[in-house]
Parts: sequence; structure tokens; C-alpha cells
Amino acid sequence: MCMPVAYASAQLPVYLDDSAPIEERVEDAVGRMTLDEKIAICHAQSKFSTPGCPRLGIPELWFSDGPHGVRMEFTWDDWLHAGWTNDSCTALPALTCLASTFNPALAERYGKTVGEEARFRKKDVMLGPGVNIYRTPLSGRNFEYMGEDPFLASTMVVPYVKALQANGVAACLKHFALNNQEKDRDKVNVEVDERALNEIYLPAFKAAVEEAGVWTIMGSYNKYKGTFCSHNDTLINQILKKQWSFDGAMITDWGSAHDTREAALNGLDIEMGSWTNGLTWGVSSAYDNYYMAGPLKQLIKSGEIDEKVLDDKVRRILRLNFRTNMDRRRPFGSMHTPEHVAAALDVAREGIVLLKNEKAFLPLTPGNLKIAVIGENAVKKLSIGGGSSELKPRIEMSALQGIKEIFGDGVEFALGYASGEPNYSMEMPSPYDADSLSRAAVDLAAKADVVLFFGGLNKNYTQDCEGDDRRTYDLPFGQNELIERIVAVNPRTAVVITSGNAVAMPWLGRVPAVVQSWYLGSMGGRALAEVLSGAVNPSGKLPFTIARKLEDYPAHQGGDRTYPGVDGTVHYDEGIFVGYRWADKHKTKPQFAFGHGLSYTKFEYGNFASDRKAYAPGETIRLSLEVKNVGAVDGAETVQFYVSQAKPKLPRPVKELKAFAKRTVRSGETVTYDAEIPVDALAYYDDGLHSWVLDDDTFIIHAAAASDDIRRTLKIKVNNKNIAIK
Ligand code: BGC
Repeated sequence: MCMPVAYASAQLPVYLDDSAPIEERVEDAVGRMTLDEKIAICHAQSKFSTPGCPRLGIPELWFSDGPHGVRMEFTWDDWLHAGWTNDSCTALPALTCLASTFNPALAERYGKTVGEEARFRKKDVMLGPGVNIYRTPLSGRNFEYMGEDPFLASTMVVPYVKALQANGVAACLKHFALNNQEKDRDKVNVEVDERALNEIYLPAFKAAVEEAGVWTIMGSYNKYKGTFCSHNDTLINQILKKQWSFDGAMITDWGSAHDTREAALNGLDIEMGSWTNGLTWGVSSAYDNYYMAGPLKQLIKSGEIDEKVLDDKVRRILRLNFRTNMDRRRPFGSMHTPEHVAAALDVAREGIVLLKNEKAFLPLTPGNLKIAVIGENAVKKLSIGGGSSELKPRIEMSALQGIKEIFGDGVEFALGYASGEPNYSMEMPSPYDADSLSRAAVDLAAKADVVLFFGGLNKNYTQDCEGDDRRTYDLPFGQNELIERIVAVNPRTAVVITSGNAVAMPWLGRVPAVVQSWYLGSMGGRALAEVLSGAVNPSGKLPFTIARKLEDYPAHQGGDRTYPGVDGTVHYDEGIFVGYRWADKHKTKPQFAFGHGLSYTKFEYGNFASDRKAYAPGETIRLSLEVKNVGAVDGAETVQFYVSQAKPKLPRPVKELKAFAKRTVRSGETVTYDAEIPVDALAYYDDGLHSWVLDDDTFIIHAAAASDDIRRTLKIKVNNKNIAIK
């Protein structure tokens, strides 16, 4: 008779013994694996999984998008929704909204929510968050990123990643690096100077590696210095793995590997995609032909590539297993809990930005108001579309529903304009007649006490959607004309823009109020209605500059050379002067500046002090600022601390964000804000020396309500006689 074998802990092989240190388990496992088994874990076995090592009981790794919630299930190796019925999620607001909260505690709740739901859905790697810098408002994926400022993105990404990974689910930070446009994303070569790379485009990635200990990173589709980023020696081997000591796994974007030798030698660990280019349909069982499959095995067997190169990849992937699905102590996760829904609601509430509010037009007091709600975005399901960040939310409250719940029966709706169905590769025509939609909306507007226009972009192709960029800075679907017609019959019109990008606002002078709403996820409608009715006092601040016209963005200064590129190369000629750094340098007055956001109350800034007058490298500058709420309602204010250097040896931006703090201040109350700036954060990157440099100099610290609204300044001295280089 076959007796069951007792499986006492002492008899476990080291790699299965989770009391053993991870590195010992890794070494034990790698030593047991055959060449074929090692090769197998370096590439996909399906659209969203790798095979593990079945003989040794090392589990498959399951991946999911990201980054705003757990994406629905897909068929084994197609881009087809699998049609499961248990795969709906809590949709969090898009990352632009998270960034505009300027609230790291919310980033933590966000990461926790995504992590718990990912864990419950049996995912091991969540494909997100994204931290590419906002360079042009045309870029189709800005809504998935955290704005134009590296310090803001760095500060928000760290708690997100830590809280997500606390669930034993890896974050996969994307897209490394320089995915600042979607147009030609699969081939464009980015030429950017080393200083801008280090000061602007890499800091958020670096923070996620060094401060949050992110476990995986996804390469971008584009090239840097002529080599695809997913197997780029400079980016992966030199910077990521050597300088930042990243010990996790480097993963391709889906189909972003292009060469076996480069992939093997330049630091790629896992190749994902579909077939061999990530996009083509129709060939089956092609996984063996991946660059990191059969062809890699050939190069190793022929001796052209040392097996040690493969072993390094295998170690990184095993480490990922031990951190995720071979960690028996990881939590079980949870799905759509009240806390998850509350997190989605709170991020939306704090992220919405009040851009303009003449004569306190908002908030609208619920009562007998006849409100005309006009615009497709009042009813459109905005968690759908956009590409890989699409979601199947269990609930998604529309703006119209939220407004009806708060304002009651006096609310009437007209569509006003309409777009076509979302589609990832072509623009679909609207099925409706634009003239009759517009006429009906104008008629409704004329009869209303107040009009709330809900427009903006959506997640259709060439709007806020991956795979291509917007064609223009203007609002689509005839919205500008429609707004003008509405305002002509009813000037009491507030415009709510839903987008992940800045848009031109030619009608701005003719409307009393404008609200920047983002893709707000499951509870967006409630959050919007609460802000419009004053139940929530808005406190979001813009994470990017809204310029008056496209030409005011640095990416659009140099014709095709600077966007979208000429002969396959885009030149970031503006260097470090991105966003407000450009607006400051050229004194172009933005429509709405980085960091701008109004409140229903007013804050006065009082005493501003630093703990000392002079500092040495390695020390911390401690700041305090008194802020008084002089209005009638409670509110939250984000104070931004920007730093200027008196006489830098290299040109520097007029000022740069180095700290921020958000506090709730009750009406009539004065609150002391505290903030810290590490002295070393005042350094700049000297590309001549290939190093960070901190000058011996005077620095000016500004306490500001927005990048164009400095309220207080003070000076400090950094004594660095040795001109120490970090
Ligand atoms: C996107 C990634 C995404 C992947 C998997 C790619 O097209 O660029 O961000 O994670 O697909 O869906």
C-alpha cells in the first residue's frame, strides 16, 4: 500500500523552506534547474503568464494591468476579453488624479487597494504604476502617469509601490524609460541629454527602486540612443542594475524585444508579448520562437553567450517568485471592500482641481435650481477604453447620477455631442447627428438656471489612449463650438473637463467656472457632485502646466524635430526645461500653472522660517510655515516649496519643486506646516562630470500656492567648500 509521505519542514529542500533566506533559496533552486527550464521562465507561455518550473513546483507568474485597478481576464494568448464574470474590480481614479491630490497618504491607500485586489485575483505582478514625465499634452498616455515634475512623481510613486507590494504582489514600474509620446512609440529613438535624463526623466524610477524597492520594471517600446529601451545597456545594465542596485526582474513591454543577443546581454530578464512582436494575431505556439526562448538557447549551447548570463536572469525571476507566490506568509487579498471604494472616492475628491471660479459661481447650493447637465462625459463609462489600462469596474457612478443624487429632480440632461465607440486602433464615428444633439442641448441650456457642461477627452483612439497621440490641443467632437453656443444663451455655465491632458480653452473668458476632472474611477460621479455642491471643498492642484497654446510647450518649439521626430528620432532640445521650468525660463504665462488649484476658502500665508541659516551636505533643511484659513469654510491647502539657486555653475531652472505639504485648515484656524528638504536634493547633474554636484552657494526657498503664486521666500546658505560631488 502506498503510504503518504510525511513532509516535515526539516526535509524540505532549501528552496521550498521559507524559513531560509531568499538568496539561499535562489541559489538552491537555480542549481536544480536544467537549461530548458531556465530558458522557459525567461519568456511568456501565454498573454499574461510565464510557466514557472513545474518539475520543481515553482509556480507560474501571473501578470495583469494596471495601473488603476486589476484588468479583466484575457483568453490564453489573444487580446480578447475572456468573458469571466468574477473579474470586475474597484476602478481607482487615473494616476493624473492621484498626482493632483499631492497626498502621499492617498498614494498608499491607492497602492494598498490595487495590491489587495490583485492578490485576491491571483495576480503576482501588477503592470504599473507609470511614471513617465509629461512632456507634451498630445501624448496619449499622460493620464496613466503622474505629471511633469520628477519630485512630485517620485514622492507619490514610493508609497504606492510599497503598499502594493506589501500584499506579496510585485509592482511593475513602467515604462523604462522616455515613453513621453505614443506616436511611433514602437520605434521612435529619443535623443535627450544626460542631464535631463538624470534630473527629469529618471528620478521617479530611481525613487521606486531605491526607496520603495520595486520588484519588477517594464521596458518601454521606444529607443534611447539608437537601442530599444527593453534591451538597452546604458539604461538597464549601467543605470538600473549597477548604479541603483536593482535586484528584481526587467520585463519587456508586450512585444518590445527585438534581438536575442542584445536582450540577453543588455539586461532583459523576461520577454512578454504575443507571438513575437506583441501585436500580430494568427500564429500559434510561437512562444518557443521568442528572442528569449529557442534563439537564446542556441546562443548558449553554441557558447556564444555564457550560461552565467542566463543564470543571472533566472536568479532575478526566482527572487520574484520567492517574494510573491512562493511566500507562504503573503496575505490573501480582498475584493471590492468598502475600504477600496472609499479609497477610490477619496482620491477622486482630493484630485479634482478647481481651475477658475469667478464671483464664487461654485459651489451650487442644492435647492430649487433648474440644472442643465450637458455633455457626453456626464454619462460615459470612462473606465473603459484607453488601451491596457481599461477596466471592468463593478460600479462606476456617472457624473449625471452623482448630480441627481445630490441636486434631485431639477436636473435635466442633454448629450450635446457624441463620440464613437472606443477602439484602440481607429477613430470611430459617432452614430448620432451632431446638429440635432447640439440644438437640443442649447434649447435645454436656455431654460436652465445653471448649466453644467461635462466635456473633455475620452479614452477613444487619438484622445487619451495608448498607441497614438492626440492630433490637436483642442477639444474634440465639436465641443468648443457647442460651449460657445451654450454660453450665448446661458452665461451661467460651468465647464467640467474630464481628461488626463491639458486642453485649449478658447471660451475661458466667457464662462465663470472651470473644473479639471480626471478619469475618476468607480466613485467619480459622487466626488464631482460633492465638489460642485460644496459638500467637498476642492483641494487638487495641477500636476502639469496648462499652456495657452500648444506652441507654449517646449516639445513643440522645434517643429517635427522636437515632436514627433524626424527620420525616426525625436530630440528633447529643451533639455531640463520641461513644464513649469520652461514657462519660468521663457516667462510664458500659462493658462493655468503647475500646482494651481482653487478652493472655496482663502488661505493666507504667514511666518516662514528655516531651522538654520546655513547647512552642510548630508544635512536636512527643516521649514515651517503658518497658514491661516481666512474664509468661511474648512479646506485643505497644498503648500509647494520651490528652490532657486543664486549663482549656479551650470544654468538651472528658475525654481524647482523640492517639497510639499498638504493640511486641512479649519475656517479661522492657523496651522503650522512642516516640511523637510535634504540638502543633497539641491544638487544638479553635471553632464561634464557625469555626476551630481552641490555648489557652495546661496539658495532661495519659496513657499507657494502654485508655481506662479509665490507667497513667501527665505534664503539659506549651503557651505560646501570641498565642492563635494555625490
Ligand atoms: C502596454 C503596457 C501593458 C501591456 C500589457 C502594452 O501594450 O504598453 O503598458 O502593460 O501592453 O497589456
